[in-house]
Amino acid sequence: MNEQSNRLLIAGNWKANGSLAMIEDWGAGFKAPEGLDALVFAPAPYLRHAADRIAGAAVGAQDLDDVDDGAHTGCVTARMLADIGCRWTLAGHSERRQAGESGVLVGAKLARAAAAGISVVLCVGESQAEREAGRLEEVLRSQLDEGLPAAWPAGVEIAIAYEPVWAIGTGLAASAADAQQAGAWIRSCLAGRGADGKIRILYGGSVKAGNAAGFVGQPDIDGLLIGGASLEAGSFSAICAEVLA
Ligand code: PGA
Repeated sequence: MNEQSNRLLIAGNWKANGSLAMIEDWGAGFKAPEGLDALVFAPAPYLRHAADRIAGAAVGAQDLDDVDDGAHTGCVTARMLADIGCRWTLAGHSERRQAGESGVLVGAKLARAAAAGISVVLCVGESQAEREAGRLEEVLRSQLDEGLPAAWPAGVEIAIAYEPVWAIGTGLAASAADAQQAGAWIRSCLAGRGADGKIRILYGGSVKAGNAAGFVGQPDIDGLLIGGASLEAGSFSAICAEVLA
């Protein structure tokens, strides 16, 4: 088991939010927590600035393109991310899937990131309709099968974020029991993968100070992916403090 996998991974996803001024405030207001791994996924134009200004949290990308360097106007390649020192990316966030990204494309992006030495948080989760139709396990398994390669390079971490689509940005967080049920299912689907240790499983969807500790108290939840409540250093720091208490 690698050393990192014993620690909670608390990640923020700023989505299409942020500015130079916001990053100054965030860096000044963030209290780097001891005893957990903190990470923020910043918009691509701000990655370098955020990495320079934020101490105590890694800075990751929210996405990359499934292309090599070359004639692909507007694309961000894994090599470019690695070149600026970016060591993490998200892949397969439901907002990207809703914008038309297939599970196969998510898998291709993840493989490119991993090959460039970039660790990945792969997002999976069911819609309300899929949950009501009793398809939770099938959806999660197929997103994992499409998203995960058979193996990935040593030193690259793959974590899974369980993010039910109906809980994202709605204020309607899953219950801790629902998160645990999905986490346990994801863990069973991952058996035999990630040979160098336990794969960390995060919960995401309307996490805030007050409900955060309940999720990480579950045996199959090893961290959090936080959207709205990560936009201010104070609320992100409060969540970090809560899960360590
Ligand atoms: P939320 O977003 O915390 O605002 O619900 C979570 C996410 O989309 O990662």
